[in-house]
Amino acid sequence: MRTQVVIVGAGPSGLLLGQLLHKAGVEAIILERQSADYVLSRIRAGVLEQVTTDLLDEAGVGERMHREGLTHSGFEILNQGKRHRIDLKTLTGGQSVMVYGQTEVTRDLMQARSAANLPTVYGAQNVTLADFDSSKPRVTYEKDDQTHVIDCDFIAGCDGFHGVCRASVPRQAITEYEKVYPFGWLGLLSDTPPVCEELIYVNSSRGFALCSQRSRNRSRYYLQVPLTDRVEQWSDEAFWNELRLRLDDEGRAKLVTGPSIEKSIAPLRSFVTEPLRFGRLFLAGDAGHIVPPTGAKGLNLAATDVKYLSQALIEFYNDKTDAGINDYSQRCLRRIWRGERFSWWFTQLMHTFSDDGPIAAKFQQAELDYLLNSESGLRTMAENYVGLPLNFGEPTKG
Ligand code: APR
Ligand code: PHB
Repeated sequence: MRTQVVIVGAGPSGLLLGQLLHKAGVEAIILERQSADYVLSRIRAGVLEQVTTDLLDEAGVGERMHREGLTHSGFEILNQGKRHRIDLKTLTGGQSVMVYGQTEVTRDLMQARSAANLPTVYGAQNVTLADFDSSKPRVTYEKDDQTHVIDCDFIAGCDGFHGVCRASVPRQAITEYEKVYPFGWLGLLSDTPPVCEELIYVNSSRGFALCSQRSRNRSRYYLQVPLTDRVEQWSDEAFWNELRLRLDDEGRAKLVTGPSIEKSIAPLRSFVTEPLRFGRLFLAGDAGHIVPPTGAKGLNLAATDVKYLSQALIEFYNDKTDAGINDYSQRCLRRIWRGERFSWWFTQLMHTFSDDGPIAAKFQQAELDYLLNSESGLRTMAENYVGLPLNFGEPTKG
């Protein structure tokens, strides 16, 4: 078998890349280890920057998002019992974010892919990469007890943090930067109306909490929990009780509880791989970098990688230039590090770091006191939350 690009992983990164390449007439095969249903069962953040919604439109999959997604022009911070609204629209000159679940983004991309009859192999086992340092890379995989070989021009590693692509790169060719946080997020999804029209990020003495949503009838809540906690220890009732304790009177009065439809604990990690290109292998999305979820930058950073990668590959085929390929890594990394910095900073600002002693909480409160009472502090928070422009920091032309 032969194709132009083998994409490993059918998460949002791989599917979006496949769609953008298809639109430009570039052939790709996607290899996914899991089933489509399994991929759709993963619950992830759901706040999209305009850069991401624009890209989904460009890929031709934005229709349902515009119909069902919720435009949010602000969010709330509940700090030690006191609420502050971050008015994104006013602070950023008119920008907002779109609340639309990542699962739905993935579902829309999957549907577009199957409607266009594009090849995706689900249940592809033992994906193995070869010769990506030459001009003739090869990918093998097993399915139904048969081994398949695909010759290709490029391999796109869109296979997430635990994937095979990053692991296939010689150790001496790669540098990894990592910070693991000393707590996790316990998430609960329920078919109940959200406690507030907007998201609420909570800094309380009992730890961080987040009130998020998927629609007007589906809520997503999170609690900061010790890394040693197991999800089985948390009954729905215990979750709701703890959330109530971290909210204010208004939140407690408005909170509607109900049975969970999903509950899980996720660790928090900042992680970046440098570089993101190794000959004809590219890493994109979670395969190359992870952010802690505070601020929901994960999918947005993945989407920009995919934008740059699709442009580079399309230019290679259509304009016979490898300039985009050569620039891919540094172009992505600049934006990634900005997103990493914001996610780390917002995590530090909002969580309880009990190992750091009482002075850490005092610094944190002093920082919040400054930010929430300063026009420039609020603007810093808002412009990062909605996402800095793609050309941020580049010399202006003209
Ligand atoms: N072979 C084939 N597929 C694989 C392999 C492998 N060896 N290893 C992993 N995969 C698949 C996974 O099953 C998964 O479906 O690659 C896919 C990677 O998808 P994601 O983990 O969702 O990563 P990505 O598409 O980059 O999405 C980034 O997801 O985690 C969030 O915050 C993150 O929002 C961001 C988004
Ligand atoms: C979510 O809805 O899952 C979510 C929203 C905002 C975040 C993180 C997660 O900052």
